[in-house]
Amino acid sequence: MSKNKKNKPIIIEEPNFNKAKFRSTSNLDFIDADLSVPNNLKQWANNKKYLIKTFGCQGNVRDTEYLKGYFNILNMSETDDFSNADIILFNTCAIRENAENKLFAELGNLRKYYEKNKNLIIGVCGCVMQEENPYSLLRQSFPFVKLVFGTFNINHIFNLLSKVIESNTRVVEVFSKQGEIIENMPTVRNDKYKAFVNIMYGCDKFCSYCIVPFTRGQQRSRKLTDILKEVNQLIENGYKEVTLVGQNVNSYGLDLTQSDKTSFYELLEKVAQTKIERIRFTTSHPFDFNEKVFEIMAKYKNIMPALHLPLQSGSDSVLKAMNRKYDVERYKQLVALLRKHIPDVCLTTDIIVGFPTETLEDFNKTIELCKEIRFDAAYTFIFSPREGTVAAKMTNITPKDEISRRFLILKDTIDKITEEKGHEYVNKTVNVLFDSISKKNENMISGYDEHNKLIHVKYQDNLIGTIRKVKIKESHTFSFIGEVLDE
Ligand code: SAH
Ligand code: SF4
Ligand code: F3S
Repeated sequence: MSKNKKNKPIIIEEPNFNKAKFRSTSNLDFIDADLSVPNNLKQWANNKKYLIKTFGCQGNVRDTEYLKGYFNILNMSETDDFSNADIILFNTCAIRENAENKLFAELGNLRKYYEKNKNLIIGVCGCVMQEENPYSLLRQSFPFVKLVFGTFNINHIFNLLSKVIESNTRVVEVFSKQGEIIENMPTVRNDKYKAFVNIMYGCDKFCSYCIVPFTRGQQRSRKLTDILKEVNQLIENGYKEVTLVGQNVNSYGLDLTQSDKTSFYELLEKVAQTKIERIRFTTSHPFDFNEKVFEIMAKYKNIMPALHLPLQSGSDSVLKAMNRKYDVERYKQLVALLRKHIPDVCLTTDIIVGFPTETLEDFNKTIELCKEIRFDAAYTFIFSPREGTVAAKMTNITPKDEISRRFLILKDTIDKITEEKGHEYVNKTVNVLFDSISKKNENMISGYDEHNKLIHVKYQDNLIGTIRKVKIKESHTFSFIGEVLDE
C-alpha cells in the first residue's frame, strides 16, 4: 500500500436524496457484469481474507453473496475472525433507527483492529450509505473507514478496491440513480440447498414510513428468461429450494417493456414447471395482488403453502396515511380467497405500532383484526421515523410509553395466537428440508417444513440435504420437535 497519507479522499459520488426520489419513464438498461480485475488488485488480493457482516433483508443477503463472488474471483477466502481479516465490509440496513444505531456501535468497535493493522481496509456499503445524514456522520467520525459504496455500486467493487489500494485514501461511490439490471454477477451462495433468487430490485410504492424506495431506487424487474436460467442452474447444482425475492413480488413485470411483459403468476408457473422441489416467494403486497397467484399456488405442489402478506395496520385511516393503497376490507378479501384456494396455508404478516396518526381506537382495530384473521406469526415493529420520508414530518406523535404499552399488547395477542396454532400443529405430518445441525443443540438436525416452520429432529446420518416426512411431537411456539418417519 502506498505511504502517501496526504491524499485527499476520492469522491466519485456522494448520496443525494433528491436524486434518489426520481423515477424515470425511460427503458431500463440490462447490462452484463464487468469481471476484469485491475492489475494492482490482482497482486494485492491473492490469498488475502475478507469478512462481510450483513444486516437487513434478503436483498442485502443476496448482495453479500455477490460481493463474496467478486472476492472469490480474486482468490480471497472468507474468515469470521475480525483480527485475521484484510478487508472488513459492513453491508448495512436503514429500515429502522435501531438498525443504524447498531451499525455505528459496531463500527466503533472496529477501530481497535485498524489500530493494530493500518493496512486493514474497512468498508461500509448497503442501504445506510444511500442516506445523506448517516453518511455525513461516517465521513466525519470514522476516518478509518476507507471504502464507502451504495446499493447500485456493487458491480464496481474491483475498481473501488483498486483505487483504495493505490491511493491509501478513502474512496466513496454512492450512486442515487434509478438503477439498472446487472446480470451475470459472480456469486458465492450461503446455503447448499436453499437459494434466494432476485426477481426484481427497488420499489415504487413509497409507503409514507419507508426508506426502501430511496435506498434501492426504481422498481426494476429481471427478464423471465434470466430468472429461469438462474433457477435451472441451481437445480443442476443440487439446490432443492428457491425463494423468489423482491420488495413487492406481486408487482413483478409491470415495469418490463411490452415484448418482455410477464405477470407474477406467469413467472411463478414457469418456475414451478422447472420442477425445482420447493418454491417460496417474498414479499407480497396486498396491492397489485391477483387471485391467479393463489390458483397457481394451489395447482403446483412444489409451490409452498405459505404467504407473508404485510398488513401494517388494521385501521383504514392509518393505512391511508401510510399510503398502503388498500383497505381492511381488501385485505380480508385476499385472506378469504387465499384460504379458499389453499386451506392449510401458513399466513404471516408485518405490523407497525405507533404510526403518527394511530389513535387508541385505530390500534384496537388492529388487535381485533389479528384475532379475527389469526396469523400463524407476525413481525411487529415500533414506528421509526426515517429522514426524507413523508411520515417523518408528521407531528401528531403518540407518547413513547403509550406506544410501548400498545406494542406489548399487540405482541401478547400475536404470541397467544401463535402458541395456540402451534399446539394445533402437534401430531401433524409435514415434509421438512433438513439443512443444518441445530444452532442450540448439536444432537439435533434442523430444517423448515412446507409451511416455513422450523423443525428439529434427533441427529441421524444422511439427513442433511434431504426432504423427509416428519411427525410433529412438541410445539415450542417458534419451533417444533419432530420425529422422522421411515418410508
Ligand atoms: N416490501 C415489504 C417489506 C419491507 S420492510 C413490504 O412492503 O411489505 C419490512 C417491514 O419493516 C415492513 O413490512 C414494515 O412493517 C417494517 N417497516 C418498514 N419501515 C418501517 C419504519 N419506518 N418503522 C417501523 N417499521 C418499518
Ligand atoms: Fe417499503 Fe412500502 Fe416498498 Fe414495502 S412496499 S419496500 S414497505 S415502500
Ligand atoms: Fe434494510 Fe435496505 Fe433491505 S433498508 S430491509 S437492507 S432494502
